[in-house]
Amino acid sequence: MRAAAAEILFPKEVIDRRVRELAGQISRDYEGREPLIVGILNGAFIFMADLIRALDVPCRVDFVRLASYGAGSVSSGEIRIGMDLETPIAGRDVLIVEDIVDTGLTLSRLVEILRKRQPASLRVCAFLDKRERRRVPFTADYVGFPIPDRFVVGYGLDYNEKFRFLPDVRVLGTSFEREGV
Ligand code: IMP
Repeated sequence: MRAAAAEILFPKEVIDRRVRELAGQISRDYEGREPLIVGILNGAFIFMADLIRALDVPCRVDFVRLASYGAGSVSSGEIRIGMDLETPIAGRDVLIVEDIVDTGLTLSRLVEILRKRQPASLRVCAFLDKRERRRVPFTADYVGFPIPDRFVVGYGLDYNEKFRFLPDVRVLGTSFEREGV
């Protein structure tokens, strides 16, 4: 079933408006430059696709795949690059795009890894941010929405690889199971 009856946290229209605002802010900050936008697979692909199409500056794109959550929903804390960038980033302006910051372990580790490659600049744009869940200090440079400690799906975010396709962000509830999705 495509549409599941769970609480909608951010409807599509609200997401679209916020993504355009973020893109405006990023475009102003990167004026005259051509950042490399690095998406973290799989969760960031929908947000990243909308974000880059709303930018007023040219950009290039590349992706990394990390091993972190696996099939569960608890961060292991051990993060490594599964699929690396194809682009050398030394001297480039790099903007990492992620679906959500939770404990902060994933992004703080990725930033540490990419910083060693000496980019000209390195920033992070996260669609969602669960600030109260941090286990390590981490602040994203751009955040779509701060959210409370709830497990959310849709707009690229998954639960066991399900629900990424939902156009809005929903709080994962028992209704999903009841519907047998
Ligand atoms: P962190 O290392 O704990 O910050 O983990 C970030 C990753 O955890 C994200 O890229 C997501 O894959 C996953 N994650 C954390 N919270 C949620 C959620 O509410 N829904 C879906 N995925 C989540």
